[in-house]
Amino acid sequence: MAAWLFSFTLLSGSVVGLNNGLARTPPMGWNPYNVYLCDTVETQYRSAAHALVQSGMRDVGYRYLNLDCGWQATERTPSGTFMWNETRLPSGVPALADYVHGLGLMFGLYSDAGYFSCDFDSGSDHWLGSLGFEQSDANTFAAWGADYLKYDNCYGVNSFDFADHYPPIQEEPHYTVMRDALQQTNREFVYSICEWGVQDPARWAGSVGNSWRISNDIGPPVSFESLRRIINQLVPITQFAGPGGWNDLDLLEVGNVGLTDAEWRFQFAFWAAAKSPLIISTDLTTASAEVLGILGNNRVVAVNQDPLGKSVAFKRRYTDNYDVWAGPLADGSLVAVLLNWMNAQQSIIFDFADVGLVSADLTDLWTDTDLGTITASFTATVDAHGALIYNLRDGVQAVPPQFTTYLASAASNTLTGAASLRSLNASAAVVGYIGYGSTLTFTGVDGGTSGGTKLLSLTYANADYTFYNSDCSNCRRAEDKYVSMAGL
Ligand code: GLA
Repeated sequence: MAAWLFSFTLLSGSVVGLNNGLARTPPMGWNPYNVYLCDTVETQYRSAAHALVQSGMRDVGYRYLNLDCGWQATERTPSGTFMWNETRLPSGVPALADYVHGLGLMFGLYSDAGYFSCDFDSGSDHWLGSLGFEQSDANTFAAWGADYLKYDNCYGVNSFDFADHYPPIQEEPHYTVMRDALQQTNREFVYSICEWGVQDPARWAGSVGNSWRISNDIGPPVSFESLRRIINQLVPITQFAGPGGWNDLDLLEVGNVGLTDAEWRFQFAFWAAAKSPLIISTDLTTASAEVLGILGNNRVVAVNQDPLGKSVAFKRRYTDNYDVWAGPLADGSLVAVLLNWMNAQQSIIFDFADVGLVSADLTDLWTDTDLGTITASFTATVDAHGALIYNLRDGVQAVPPQFTTYLASAASNTLTGAASLRSLNASAAVVGYIGYGSTLTFTGVDGGTSGGTKLLSLTYANADYTFYNSDCSNCRRAEDKYVSMAGL
């Protein structure tokens, strides 16, 4: 186990962001998909661009006006050139790009690493994909004035399988060929990889794209379960985000039906602190002052755009109750996000030991309230499915807790039912198939002699990778309600 952890640390340290000089902080912009699905028309793109400026969002940092599915034609020109949908975009893409640039914004296009793009025109004809046409399409997109490319993953395996979540091919080459084609154009493109996290892109896409989706779509329709699913999927990969290459948690749902206003803030605080691209996907022409207040919260946006570019990392889950995540900022302070998973408002104790501190000067970043110097813990009320986001300055470090490690694979442990031992490599083994009545019992755990409490930290990989909101949300979760502690 120790050898495995060591090599993992080396790997994470060696990943660097794509060296195209772009996205040194997470990209910010607007995308139509959660508002208009694949039906967006030119007037809506223009209104959205105008609204980015009018609402003040451009000046907050939302610079990219991106297109998503449905802007493409279903056939190339006779010479094989990519073409736009002339019904939806009567003035054409170059004119739209000019309009967007004229507003002081950048312009993004969308294509697909497969035979076709996702979804259909009027339920039958496929929209164009770029597989096999990468250099030609990159040249075309550059000539039209694009500054950003979202590159999707439908029909990547063959021309009839819409979305293969277990593709029998390596997807990375589909993405590197477009990376190289974009670089050949000599136009600067932010390159946004959208393969839905199916082949662990965090582990390879750092040198391929400026961001990579880590999960299946957030919506539409969105529900709080989507946020839970995506956040759980982020736990093991926060260390792969950095300047030039970011974990993409998917579009913002702030302002959309399906989430409460507390859940909008929950998403925004977490996405910002996890250094996800912040891509608005709501109708800004009708957005309320509250929605603009969330999207425009300069302190939370500043966390996202912090030049150090470190994601918050998972620190602790209080079972079915609340999470603590934290990470460093460039000025030496920390940002911490506390997530209330409960369906009810509650009082949350922020224990500074969970972020390695004894005391610190605490600021509530939502409200810009200076809470003074706090020692040991801070108690705050948080809405149902709400989030708290704090800055901790001038922290006094705590002595890190000392843990004794007990391996699941130890020969002295007892397995029942389907639980079984599996070797990963010459030096590491895991116990799998725990749950549904199958158990693992550790023996010889030192409970101490002096009474009191002990902190138990469980490292657990959930292999029940779920892709849909309707699945059980990450089915077999390791939580203390499933852990019996006889004798402790
Ligand atoms: C995929 C992507 C989404 C969106 C749709 C468009 O599902 O993951 O973000 O682009 O395609 O059809």
